Amino acid sequence: MSAAARPVLAVASECAPLVKTGGLADVVGALPAALASRGWAIRTLLPGYRGVMKALKRPRVAAELPDLLGTPVRLLAATAGGMDLLILDAPALYDRDGSPYLDAQGNDWPDNDLRFAVLNLAAALIAADGIKGWRPEVVHLHDWQAGLTPLYMASAGAAQPCVMTIHNIAFHGLTGAERLKALGLPAEGFTLDGFEYYGHISALKAGLTGAQAITTVSPTYAQELATEDFGMGLDGVIRARAHDLTGILNGIDTDAWDPTRDPVIRRFSAPGGKAANKRALRAEFGLAPAEGPLCVVVSRLSDQKGLDLLLTALPALTERGGQLALLGSGDRRLENAWLNVAAANPGHVGVRIGYDEGLSHRMFAGADAVLVPSRFEPCGLTQMYGLRYGAVPVVARTGGLADTVIHANAAALAVGCATGITHRPNDPRALAQALSQLAALWSDRRAYRRMQRNAMKHPVGWEASAPRYAALYDRLARERMETR
Ligand code: ADP
Ligand code: GLC
Repeated sequence: MSAAARPVLAVASECAPLVKTGGLADVVGALPAALASRGWAIRTLLPGYRGVMKALKRPRVAAELPDLLGTPVRLLAATAGGMDLLILDAPALYDRDGSPYLDAQGNDWPDNDLRFAVLNLAAALIAADGIKGWRPEVVHLHDWQAGLTPLYMASAGAAQPCVMTIHNIAFHGLTGAERLKALGLPAEGFTLDGFEYYGHISALKAGLTGAQAITTVSPTYAQELATEDFGMGLDGVIRARAHDLTGILNGIDTDAWDPTRDPVIRRFSAPGGKAANKRALRAEFGLAPAEGPLCVVVSRLSDQKGLDLLLTALPALTERGGQLALLGSGDRRLENAWLNVAAANPGHVGVRIGYDEGLSHRMFAGADAVLVPSRFEPCGLTQMYGLRYGAVPVVARTGGLADTVIHANAAALAVGCATGITHRPNDPRALAQALSQLAALWSDRRAYRRMQRNAMKHPVGWEASAPRYAALYDRLARERMETR
């Protein structure tokens, strides 16, 4: 980080490697390093969840804050994984077992509105007052858990520009109108043009209407968001702000995901080097040797990911000698359905319920293909891990999946630029066709190898996208100077 780097405050509910439930954490964790060489120094404000507090080494008190919405808090500063962190220590809100959002039974914490409102209020006070001479020029908000920040900034007299990044518009952060006072929100903003959503308070809408700029995590998702099919009830808000919305494609951490240096796999630099990993993966999932392609899925098991569609389409793969190894957790019914499929297809379908980062690396290293049949996918990271590790992505043509995979149609195959298979519509029939196309391509091993080589060369890091975030910060900071 250069001495002249300009300060940004990021506000988020997850940040890898400290706390992660999905790709949001990876992206929040990757942006500081990606922006550091481009003149912007990000400090990330996170809740002091139990696991985060345990992982901190030598935290210091960064600033004294008053009680926020009736809750005693401390603001700590720490570094972890090369990141500059601000941690909001509020045991009454965050010192709990369970995930950032859910209790051990899988229900939302009943006080989630307050838990993230307090985080946002702390962000606003940091923006307004600074910390020991450090004051952000730009505030970067991630998803609904940061959405109330512009409202609190306005009340606190902080005028820095905010960027609101939508990682997933399905989650609105809704709470009842009767909570206005408890959350310290301005009643006059509770309107159609403000943060009211069908009689409820919407934290995401507060962010979308209050931020100076909106980004989302792929260009295609940026277009989809403006449509009824994908806007999840907020497409009108998105259309009203279309001029302020850009899609900036996520990257992946190409150091952590590097098949030539990955410590948990047999390393390789070309598709031919995957064979030992494939044998190991088969052994790990109890799969027999087979003629067809070995496919993997690494995913949250939720409606978004379309893995119920794959349950129906799967025979198109297994009947052609293909196999599947699936790692995931989430929806109990889907977990059971997949365990049943594994039991019915011994030696051909292997299922592991759980969350296992190391295993996920071994799966991409050993796989011939990765399947991502999502109903919607703002960006998606696993198709990019697949590209990098020569596991050809078979994906629904939506969101970031459409922006990262070059479909193997006849022309792309003839030119030799295909990296995977995309299908639309996303229904069991089209997915089954995509799986039979995969099996057909697999039987032409030279063409398949070519596709794998293309995939491994496809750029999946932050090189293209980091400058776009930097340019956005530059512009917002400049515009603010000009209006002062
Ligand atoms: P989303 O954020 O919607 O879940 P992404 O593809 O953006 O989807 O990111 C998911 C991230 O979580 C990836 O890094 C993926 O490898 C990881 N992941 C998801 N499920 C598991 C699992 N069961 N075990 C290990 N990693 C997982
Ligand atoms: C969300 C989306 C996913 C995206 C991730 C990181 O969780 O579901 O598509 O890759 O955020 O932006």
